Amino acid sequence: MQRIYRVVQWATGNVGKVSIRQFVENPAFEVVGVLVTNPDKVGKDVGELAGLPPTGVIATNNVEEIIAADADCVHFAAAAEDIDIVCRLLRSGKNVVSPLGPFYPSNQYPHSIEASEAIAAACRDGGTSFHGSGIHPGFAGDLLPLVMARAAGRIDHIHVTEVVDFAANPSSYIPFMGFGREPEDLLANPARSPEAALMFSQSMAMVIEALGKRIERIETSLELATAREDIAYPGGVVAGGTVGGQHYEWRAIVDGKPLMTFHCFWKMGGRIDPAWDCGASGYSVRIEGDPALLMTLSGVDDHGKPQYPGLSLTALLGVNAIPAVCNAAPGIVTHRELGLFAPPGLLR
Ligand SMILES: NC(=O)c1ccc[n+]([C@@H]2O[C@H](COP(=O)([O-])OP(=O)(O)OC[C@H]3O[C@@H](n4cnc5c(N)ncnc54)[C@H](OP(=O)(O)O)[C@@H]3O)[C@@H](O)[C@H]2O)c1
Repeated sequence: MQRIYRVVQWATGNVGKVSIRQFVENPAFEVVGVLVTNPDKVGKDVGELAGLPPTGVIATNNVEEIIAADADCVHFAAAAEDIDIVCRLLRSGKNVVSPLGPFYPSNQYPHSIEASEAIAAACRDGGTSFHGSGIHPGFAGDLLPLVMARAAGRIDHIHVTEVVDFAANPSSYIPFMGFGREPEDLLANPARSPEAALMFSQSMAMVIEALGKRIERIETSLELATAREDIAYPGGVVAGGTVGGQHYEWRAIVDGKPLMTFHCFWKMGGRIDPAWDCGASGYSVRIEGDPALLMTLSGVDDHGKPQYPGLSLTALLGVNAIPAVCNAAPGIVTHRELGLFAPPGLLR
């Protein structure tokens, strides 16, 4: 008989809501608790929070109740990292999967090493496992390149590109990421750098170390585009002349030259200058080498039109990893330890 995994969803934002839907609809899971911070959500049926019929599970903001819960795994998708809480959950006997990472200890990001050491100790104490999941950092920038490497003869340079059109996919991330700020101000104080470079360096380190090298340093560049006119979105307006697009490049230098480059094009639609020819929202991995290879990943609607899938994929990548993480030996399990696994409950 198929095992049923008792799960807790920690936080009900974009990622948390998609996760709850999976936990309710996939017979491999039973949702036994949901932690919310928003006082308006406390006491509500979690089905209501996720746009589903009632489930009988009531959202709580009581952390101790969650720590004491009898569950196999917590999907920790809060707005902010909390390594102490993650460690308490692991010591309480619950495995943890989280889109906040850490994803892989990186010599470029000392915090990822400290956090990983704390988490590994908690895993030892609790006999539990931790997995940092997500689309990017995660799947697009580490697992996909590693999978493609198996079809390569020689690798000279790996390019990973993320394109997100925030005008078509508005979210609370728009002001947080610096859209609508004056270009000079954002260049002087970038919203997504340098800490994003350090987050992404974990995926780069996972791939590069698996291939037998180490990162010497990460180089960053940022090119801005300005809005040609006011661009309205639910929750605000990006004024004409302010930042309407950001093109980041993070390059992992190995043996004195870039071995892996992450390109991120984040934009508020097409009415920006320059109007980058970066394609539709989604992800691609391109390998320069022999043979040269290209793989793309994007969502599509019923009519085949590309959709931005990033937040849903982040939820699904975490949820689908839970059974494998619960069945892994205690400790931190990255894609390198998890290897190939088949998520249960998808055929229904
Ligand atoms: N690795 C990846 O590829 C990837 C991709 C996307 C997102 N992420 C990360 O995944 C996490 C969830 O993303 P999201 O899009 O769901 O975020 P979100 O929509 O902003 O929701 C996060 C939730 O966290 C809770 N929260 C709010 N303020 C908080 C605080 N100060 N401390 C702790 N929790 C707080 C709230 O939960 P309640 O509403 O339930 O109270 C909020 O809804 C974020 O940390 C994000 O950076 C990673």
